[in-house]
Amino acid sequence: MCGIIGYCGPRRAAPILLEGLKRLEYRGYDSAGIALATPGCTTAGEGADSLGVIKARGKIKDLKALVPPDIAGTTGIGHTRWATHGEVTDANAHPHLDGTGDFAIVHNGVIENFHQLRDHLLAQGVEFHSETDSEVIVHLLARAYQGDLVAALTATVSLLKGTYGIVAMYRGEPGRLVGARNGSPLVLGIGQGEMFLASDTTAILGYTRQVIYLEDGEVVSLTADEYATSDLMNREIRKEVDHISWELESIEKTGFTHFMEKEIYEQPEAIRRALRGRLDREYATGHLGGLNLNSRELLEVGRIVLLAAGTSYHAGMVATYALEELVRVPAVAELASELRYRNPLVERDALYFAASQSGETADTLYAMREVQRKGGRVLGICNVVGSTIARESDGGVYIHSGPEISVASTKAFTSQLAAFYVFALLMGRMRHLSHDQGLRLIEALEAVPGQIEAILAHTEPIRALARRYASCEHFFFLGRGINYPVALEAALKLKEVSYIHAEGYSAAEIKHGPLALITEETPSVFLVPRDGLREKVITSMKEVKARRGPVIALAVEGDQEVARVADEVLYVPEAHHLMYPFLLAVPAQLFAYYCALERGCNVDQPRNLAKSVTVE
Ligand code: F6R
Repeated sequence: MCGIIGYCGPRRAAPILLEGLKRLEYRGYDSAGIALATPGCTTAGEGADSLGVIKARGKIKDLKALVPPDIAGTTGIGHTRWATHGEVTDANAHPHLDGTGDFAIVHNGVIENFHQLRDHLLAQGVEFHSETDSEVIVHLLARAYQGDLVAALTATVSLLKGTYGIVAMYRGEPGRLVGARNGSPLVLGIGQGEMFLASDTTAILGYTRQVIYLEDGEVVSLTADEYATSDLMNREIRKEVDHISWELESIEKTGFTHFMEKEIYEQPEAIRRALRGRLDREYATGHLGGLNLNSRELLEVGRIVLLAAGTSYHAGMVATYALEELVRVPAVAELASELRYRNPLVERDALYFAASQSGETADTLYAMREVQRKGGRVLGICNVVGSTIARESDGGVYIHSGPEISVASTKAFTSQLAAFYVFALLMGRMRHLSHDQGLRLIEALEAVPGQIEAILAHTEPIRALARRYASCEHFFFLGRGINYPVALEAALKLKEVSYIHAEGYSAAEIKHGPLALITEETPSVFLVPRDGLREKVITSMKEVKARRGPVIALAVEGDQEVARVADEVLYVPEAHHLMYPFLLAVPAQLFAYYCALERGCNVDQPRNLAKSVTVE
């Protein structure tokens, strides 16, 4: 979603802002802009002595073309916008200026009471230049300013209802930026004689690794050499400096054409990292350091509820099957967006997980807070270190996938599975699983990265299949049991990157309605590994064949029976039955990727989508 970058220091700000915005492109955006303490360079229509603002709809390269290469100014702010209020226009792009052109702001989030604030400002004669909710902020800031920018920002945000990450600058204090957050991330980067403020560490990773994550209700003021953090009562807050361990190359394509491709190929290593140090062969169990629960508390867990959205929800669904089988406690996955508004019953012995790659998804975050408010204990399963869900949860596990840049989530899915499986192993060994069963599970998990490598070494059949079928407009993905959620995930991947309509279903359910849609032009992809439901899935394949629907199977190497029924087969290696979700997800991801290429889609930035969905 929207991205923010700010810079104060000795260097020219514009190239740093543009570079930061480029790094934030992956989040999804439709327009972009920068503001500099450089009068006279504005495209925003203000006077020649206002702050310089250059903004435009379209890509960062379009913005770059408008920025004079030698433009001065060593303090500035930049923004990528993903429209929520108002269309995609130059005027609605950020930064926004007040009427004098002295104040500029960028804003992520949604101001819920902007109509009232706008009406109030209009009544006072303020002129608006955009349709955005954000513009009210800059007018309020200008009116609140009485010689102290932090005080003005604090007074401004106290009037706002909704979510925000805001960075502001004032022409009268050209070497200073101020920022505030509520529900939309902001991170301060501390460099050598320079400071950064961003919505996402990827924007500043090339410049510094020393960061401070702001919390909701905190305000920051920075100059090139100093920063200060305070709360909304203007009381100073001392914050810990964190160190980012991600390498710069982890946010670059390193020879791959797209981030999606790169991240699919990173899965073996990502899963190894998610498992590293967490499998204990001696006791045949799992170790998860950050759960903040002792053995007795874990034993008392009578129900497990997984909260998530999108791909993370599908990973959670897979995990429920593994948890019920291995731990023998009821486990359910809930769409965080639905649970939040359902007034959920939070049982005493329930343990909740909030699973989120970004750790910033609003639906998941608010569902987590709702459960916590009712006394529930929520553990996070996150990728982004220091993200809001990771910090606000009552404990949890990092999946250590490294940055996931592609909007379509791939490696986070399989790494989340790995983390959930370690938890299932740990809980299972405390209850019903024998040492021997635990050991077999460890071996099965450790084999997964190698098995995925084997799949990734022979992708030509998947590519050829995509060539043959990418022109179809409708697909079904069908699986059973633990692979049913993988069918949902496969359908989601195909639709989001290739814009092909795809539905995921339980293979058993198609006879309850969807069979009506089967035609010669509607292929069905069946997930049919060697497990207890294989025969049932083969029966469903035959039902589709009988209606002349093309049948594509993802099956286990050497499965001749499946090959006889299906029109096309892709093979995965033989594995422990619980490991097939990992192995079936990978060819499904590649199939979606190759179909998108065949159809000429912009794989890393699918239309209308954003990487981290921080609004409801
Ligand atoms: C799909 C995708 C989304 C996310 C969803 C949740 O490829 O990326 O469906 O999975 O928005 O995001 P996180 O995991 O960051 O909470």
